[in-house]
Amino acid sequence: MFASVALLFAVLLFLLLFLNRKAKNFPPGPRPIPILGNLLHLNLENPVADLQRLTKRYGNVFTLFMGPKPMVVISGFQVIKEALVNKAADFSGRPQGLLINHALQVKAPGLALADYSSGWREQRRFGLMALRNFGLGKQSMEHRILGEIHLITQVLEQSLGKTTNLHLLFHKAASNIICQVLFARQFDYDDEFMEFFTVYFSETSKILNGFWGMIYDSVPMLRCLPLPFQKVFKLFKMARERYSKILADSKVTRVPGKPQHFIDCYLDELDKRGDDGSSFTEDQLCEFILELHFGGTDTTANTVLTGLLYLMNYPQIQEHCQQEIVKVLDGKDQASFEDRHQMPYVQAVIHEIQRMANTVPLGLFHSTTRDTELMGYSLPRGTVIIPNLSSVLFEEGQWKSPHEFNPENFLNENGEFVKPDAFMPFSAGPRICLGESLARMELFLVLVSLLRKFTFVWPEDAGKPDFTPVFGLTQTPKPYRIKIQLRGTA
Ligand code: HEM
Ligand SMILES: *[C@@H]1O[C@H](CO)[C@@H](O)[C@H](O)[C@H]1NC(C)=O
Repeated sequence: MFASVALLFAVLLFLLLFLNRKAKNFPPGPRPIPILGNLLHLNLENPVADLQRLTKRYGNVFTLFMGPKPMVVISGFQVIKEALVNKAADFSGRPQGLLINHALQVKAPGLALADYSSGWREQRRFGLMALRNFGLGKQSMEHRILGEIHLITQVLEQSLGKTTNLHLLFHKAASNIICQVLFARQFDYDDEFMEFFTVYFSETSKILNGFWGMIYDSVPMLRCLPLPFQKVFKLFKMARERYSKILADSKVTRVPGKPQHFIDCYLDELDKRGDDGSSFTEDQLCEFILELHFGGTDTTANTVLTGLLYLMNYPQIQEHCQQEIVKVLDGKDQASFEDRHQMPYVQAVIHEIQRMANTVPLGLFHSTTRDTELMGYSLPRGTVIIPNLSSVLFEEGQWKSPHEFNPENFLNENGEFVKPDAFMPFSAGPRICLGESLARMELFLVLVSLLRKFTFVWPEDAGKPDFTPVFGLTQTPKPYRIKIQLRGTA
């Protein structure tokens, strides 16, 4: 009896070691242990320092085992460009089977997490077209964003002269802008729908990003236990129920061929295609809505929050922006996105804010679509690739001042705006952020409109600012307080 148990155990151990074994010529990395891989090499609450150590030790291409799964971290402009751009067809897949896949892709693959496939390509082409028509069709999108800025301004005006905390103000604003594109609806900031989604998005991100997400992804045998990651499934289910309701309403109110918003547009496409076996389905639409809503909220909001944090603490930079804005907008009611061409300094500051905000530090994970090579290492098909975007945003040699907040990073000797190739907060290649144009328009219009009207001051009693973000899939600045004044009344 004892012998057979021992034998069983030995076989199990052998299997686990075997599963952990790397392919030949795989990138280097710390030695994994069975079941857990390299989990014990990381402080799961905040892996930043540990990862930094590993990158230093093993270089720009190294392997980490999350449980039995090898993941290859790639860093630096050269390597990331080689993979995501030059070898795009090999490196544009998405890993499957992680918590985020299971939570999001219940009935359809969606877009952001769909593997590199014709279905993904169809949905992506449609998504870009629809955003252009309902969003970016210039005037209309600008109009929506400016409408939202009007609401933000009203909230800020109530706090004039006081020290306040912005809470989820910019999350609500970003969420509302997407809601206008998706459903042509704008919600009050204290509306129940709004409260639900902002709270739900931040809770979900916390779980997806954190300790429990890593456990789910690394140790599959724990997945069915009632651990905190179950909450993510519940939250996504509740979100889906709300979207389904809106979808049902849209089916009643729509006029085919005259789309009012993204959902209508998608329903038109469904009519057109019928049952042609394409990737267009109602379930797919639901996933798409969820991804755009989720993907467009935290990212933009956290970038704006980081921006204000820096502008308060670099008052001379804030003032320089204000001077340029006032000069260019002289006599105009509102800013427009076109004005950016006359505002090289403001453009430089906004890009520098995005660089420092480092909003999505490890991008979204990619995976290899076939056996391939990178920098002389062999990577079998299906290897998870983690593009370390922050390594590029702070890379020495790519920036005039890589570690400091300094708009000069985006200005040439003549004070003209220039964008170095290493500016890739939206990633690069065919998987580059679908919402990039929308995000850039939002950031520009929001920051320009607010700086035209207000001056943001770091409260005297706030102590030294802490610029270190809270790590996550999307990073947020630590909560801070802000003093709001009308411009010119300081
Ligand atoms: C400052 C704001 C934003 C940042 C920094 C950002 C960043 C990113 C990054 C790094 C990726 C991963 C790209 C890759 O896989 O290599 C991504 C993907 C994506 N983003 Fe954004 N994003 C922002 C705003 C938005 C907005 C406003 C939307 C929605 C309208 C959006 C929708 C998406 C979608 C759908 C994808 C998946 C694309 C695909 O897999 O083909 N993002 N974003
Ligand atoms: C990514 O790069 C940054 C900056 O070089 C570093 O601090 C971080 O630890 C790296 N992360 C990983 C996962 O290698």
